[in-house]
Amino acid sequence: MGKILVTGGAGFIGSHTCVEFLERGYEVVVLDNLSNSKEESIRRIEQITGKHVKFYRADMRDAAAVRAIFKAHPIDAVVHFAGLKAVGESVEKPLAYYENNLNGTFVLLNAMHEAGCKRIVFSSSATVYGMHNPVPYVENMPTSATNPYGYTKVMIEQMLQDICHAQPDFSAVALRYFNPIGAHKSGLIGEDPNGIPNNLLPYIGQVAVGKLQQLSVFGDDYDTPDGTGVRDYIHVVDLAKGHVCAIAYAMAHEGFMPINLGTGNGVSVLEMVHAYEKACGHAISYRIAPRRAGDIATSYADASRAKELLGWEAQETLETMCEDSWRFMQQNPNGL
Ligand code: NAD
Ligand code: WQD
Repeated sequence: MGKILVTGGAGFIGSHTCVEFLERGYEVVVLDNLSNSKEESIRRIEQITGKHVKFYRADMRDAAAVRAIFKAHPIDAVVHFAGLKAVGESVEKPLAYYENNLNGTFVLLNAMHEAGCKRIVFSSSATVYGMHNPVPYVENMPTSATNPYGYTKVMIEQMLQDICHAQPDFSAVALRYFNPIGAHKSGLIGEDPNGIPNNLLPYIGQVAVGKLQQLSVFGDDYDTPDGTGVRDYIHVVDLAKGHVCAIAYAMAHEGFMPINLGTGNGVSVLEMVHAYEKACGHAISYRIAPRRAGDIATSYADASRAKELLGWEAQETLETMCEDSWRFMQQNPNGL
């Protein structure tokens, strides 16, 4: 099969992706500094798969540490999740975001270059479609950003494009995730944010489990069917499987390729609240609050490129996303 270096492999999407690779016979080496995750998730990946994960607790900005990993292992390809991801925090601490996400990626790409590793799948985001493109978002639309976090994604995509241009045998797939939610069916791994969640699903989950009192719905006067924001929520296990397909694609093709990973369907905040109520069996308390700065009305993917190039399509439904999220919340009310 092959040996994959997974940066950020202890995190939400990274841990689910490690499971999918291990279950298909790949060997997985994880680099994570645990700044937004716990080592327990590595143990849980091993528990689910019955396979060993070689784990390095290290910072991707530490060039010696990253180089040592490439020395110790013949890495066939890298899946690069590591990064800071809180939009609001990035506005407060732009330098921390540029330093971590850009410098970290720079160190990683340099180490890949030195080691002769020429395949990377990068965690990009639908945020690169900015505020002004019409939905559904198609990969050839112009990219832009509205906050430092988003700019790190735009800039890293540019770095990858430039490397592919300079080095024609290099392959980089930028997966533009829409809104990843849900959890592994085992209930052993899922989303475990520090502090009060910024994102809708972990917030709803914490209200459902009784840790938070009430959800604030940010705006009910958008130009959408029920006035609340519409997003393309995608099950994290579907997303994880997309990475296995993307690695196969990167092994067989050269050049830079951005690919949306979404379902192609939009779901409103209130539809999500009601779907979660069904999954957990009780009402979720919410109130209508003002719009959140920087939010757009509607975001969803044109998912046709993923189907065409990767043979990948989302399989899970809104129902299973909520059921799986709820199972994880119940089994881990205080996180991992
Ligand atoms: P996460 O925070 O759970 O995972 C990121 C992991 O990277 C964490 O385990 C963290 O400890 C690690 N990390 C951060 N900086 C590091 C460093 N300098 N060195 C080593 N490890 C470091 O986040 P996630 O939701 O799993 O997201 C994974 C990737 O996908 C991120 O790049 C994120 O920007 C991107 N993304 C996420 C979403 C989303 O909604 N979750 C949407 C689009 C894109
Ligand atoms: C979804 C909807 C909110 C919380 C963010 C990043 C994006 C990407 C994914 C990384 C919106 C509403 C939310 C709450 C609410 N991350 N909401 N009450 O904003 O689509 O995307 O995460 O790349 O870059 O911006 O996701 O989950 O925060 O919000 O009403 O307490 O839920 O207004 O309509 P978003 P989200």
